[in-house]
Amino acid sequence: MNQYQIIEGDQTVYRDGTIKLHGPAGFEGMRKAGRLAAEILDELTAFVRPGVTTGAIDDKVREMTLDAGAVPATLGYRGYAHSCCTSINHVICHGIPGDKALKEGDIVNVDVTPLVDGWHGDTSRMFFAGEPSLKARKLVDVTYECLMLGIEAASRPGARLGDIGAAIEAHANQFRYGVVREFCGHGVGRLFHDAPEVVHAAKAGTGPELKPGMFFTIEPMINAGKPWGKVLGDGWTAVTRDKSLSAQFEHSIGITENGVEIFTKSPKGLDKPPY
Ligand code: MF3
Ligand code: CO
Ligand code: CO
Repeated sequence: MNQYQIIEGDQTVYRDGTIKLHGPAGFEGMRKAGRLAAEILDELTAFVRPGVTTGAIDDKVREMTLDAGAVPATLGYRGYAHSCCTSINHVICHGIPGDKALKEGDIVNVDVTPLVDGWHGDTSRMFFAGEPSLKARKLVDVTYECLMLGIEAASRPGARLGDIGAAIEAHANQFRYGVVREFCGHGVGRLFHDAPEVVHAAKAGTGPELKPGMFFTIEPMINAGKPWGKVLGDGWTAVTRDKSLSAQFEHSIGITENGVEIFTKSPKGLDKPPY
C-alpha cells in the first residue's frame, strides 16, 4: 500500500491512514487559515491578564473567528462545545473554557483552529497572566525552543518524521523536563486530525520520509516534572499526574521543496511571551 496520496484540486479526502501530499491550492488554503489563526492569537495578547475568565477568552475567539467568516473547528468536534482550549498551569492540553478567572502568575495555553474555506489553521501559544515565576518562564521558553527545533529538524533535506521528536526530546532532556507522549501532532488540512501522527519523543532516522506537500502540526507538550498525564472526569482536561507545570506551543506547517513553510506564524512577531 502506498502510504502517500497526491491530492489534486478539490478532491474529497478521507481519514484512510494515507499521508496527503498537497499542491499550490492546498498551500494557498492553509496560508489563509493559518494566518487567521495567528491573528486571533495576536489579538489575545492584549486581552489575557489576571481576572479574565477562560470563558471570556473563548467568547473572544468565537467572535473573531465568526467575524472573519470562519468557523471554530472545535465547536461540536466529538462533542466539544467551545471555540478554543484554555490550559492553565498543570493542565497539559484540552482545558475547557469556563468561569474560572486567571490569577496573577498563571501561565495559560490557548489553542485555536479556525476552519477557513475548508482548511484548518491549528495553532497554540502560551500566555502570561501578570508575572509568572522564573520556573514557569523557563519552562515556557524551553517549550517554544522545542517547537522551533522540531520545525528545524523537519526542514532538513531527507528528514524523517522521527527526527522531529528526537530534536524535541533531546532539548527537553537537557532541562530534565518530561515530554508528553499521550498527545501528538497530526496531519492537518481539509481534515482536522489526519495521518501522520507526529510524536514529540522519537528516534532520529525513523518513520516516513518528509515529502513536499505534507501538512502537519508540531505541538510539543512539555512538563516541568514527569511526562505522565491523565484525563479528568470531564473527558477532556489532561493534567500532569505529579501536578507539575506544563507548557505547549503549536504550529501548522507545510513541507516545501527546500524546507518548511510555517502557516501559523504571527504576522506581528508575537510568537511567544512576554508580549
Ligand atoms: N486544537 C487541538 C489540537 O491541537 C485539538 C482540540 S480538539 C478539542 O489538535 F475538541 F479539544 F477542542
Ligand atoms: Co493540533
Ligand atoms: Co491545536
